[in-house]
Amino acid sequence: MLLDHIVLRNFRNYTDCEINFTKPVILIIGGNAQGKTSLLEAIYFLCTAESHRATHDAELIRHHESGFYLKGILRNGSDDVTSLEATKRVRGQFKLKKNGVLQTKRSEWIGQFNAVLFSPESLTLVKGSPSERRRFLDLLISQIDTEYLKSLQEYNFVLKQRNELLKQIRATLANPAQLDAWDKLLLMHGTAVIIKRLEIFHQLRNHAIQNHHKLTGGSENIALTYRSASVPDDTLTHNIENSNLENFSTNILTDPALVSQKTTCEDKVIKYFGVSLNGSREADLQRGTTLVGPHRDDFLIELENEPQPSPPHNYHDDRASDPLGHETETFREVARSYGSQGQQRTIALALKLAELELIRHLTGRNPIVLLDDVTSELDDNRIGYLLEVLQDLSAQTFITATDAEPLVNHLNQPSVLKVENAQISSTTETIENS
Ligand SMILES: Nc1ncnc2c1ncn2[C@@H]1O[C@H](COP(=O)(O)OP(=O)(O)O)[C@@H](O)[C@H]1O
Ligand SMILES: [Mg+2]
Repeated sequence: MLLDHIVLRNFRNYTDCEINFTKPVILIIGGNAQGKTSLLEAIYFLCTAESHRATHDAELIRHHESGFYLKGILRNGSDDVTSLEATKRVRGQFKLKKNGVLQTKRSEWIGQFNAVLFSPESLTLVKGSPSERRRFLDLLISQIDTEYLKSLQEYNFVLKQRNELLKQIRATLANPAQLDAWDKLLLMHGTAVIIKRLEIFHQLRNHAIQNHHKLTGGSENIALTYRSASVPDDTLTHNIENSNLENFSTNILTDPALVSQKTTCEDKVIKYFGVSLNGSREADLQRGTTLVGPHRDDFLIELENEPQPSPPHNYHDDRASDPLGHETETFREVARSYGSQGQQRTIALALKLAELELIRHLTGRNPIVLLDDVTSELDDNRIGYLLEVLQDLSAQTFITATDAEPLVNHLNQPSVLKVENAQISSTTETIENS
């Protein structure tokens, strides 16, 4: 997939800017606060209908203007050309148009045009809260599977209703028996979310581990584990007969409509999730919120070390604290707490490359790659590896930096754009910038 052309009007610090892109690798060079990240943000927004850094949509509108307009011309092969337009008024919803036709739902937009962005904020994947990692997984899966975002939206809707009801019951304004109906819906949509998360997470894990191994020259290994109060990481592969689910029969789970028609895999997840939901009902009622479910899940990132006779006390001993009691040979450190900044950056990069490979593998399309300020994030070796991988994939790649020097040696004939105060100039590209 290639972005041939982009238009930005009143987007961030851009007033009116049109650029044609003619080469697969585009270097965007400029000083601080000139508009480099904003240009990548516009491309990312066109592909995902989401900004990677704005907390409120209105931040994207140029100060004192009434709305922004973005347009991109994307090409998949030589004939398949699509025009994408996004507009937002100060007090209005986003409007997204594909080939001039209004798209009503974000779930229909997302997944048609893929983008992967690596920026200094990507470090929050390792260092940030569980919600960052859930967001990463959710956005990745949404780009691959159009049904996923719908299941997630339905799950979130039901979750909101259930939480409302929990508060009402706590205030004795409603009856606890009313929860059963919401629990069935929560199990149904939550199960779809969990299964897809586990499926994609396990594939992502394989890619990330391989990338990490290559990035560190084999000197370090990571372990990734899906962390959930409802389902074990290996739910999809292990046999449920071996697991401890004797207290399985609850009023929700014996409903034949919910369980009997399901495949083994769905059946397993429904049972696990059902048991945990049921077990947490008292606590949910006390807290007035739902404490288990995919909205609380996370994945654990650990650095693996060789077995040591007496591990230092700050090491995480996997055998002692693994809630599922799996025996492991190695000791692991939680990357979020103990990894150095450099190790954390490498893990974030390994995850992002895994995201890219997985999108490519599962959709058959190359996502657009956006690398924001990588030279401030990674050393020369890692940049070399990253750019080598990207050029091997021939994915269209936009790279921002304050200085082209550390990058040009690694790149094969990039086009170089200069950004100064939201004005873009180049000797290699056609620019119409007013
Ligand atoms: N909504 C907005 N309207 C006008 N200017 C903005 C808006 N949002 C951000 N800016 C400014 O745009 C400039 C460019 O930001 P950015 O693209 O992040 O720069 P950089 O080149 O360092 O990546 C900054 O000076 C920032 O303050
Ligand atoms: Mg920037």
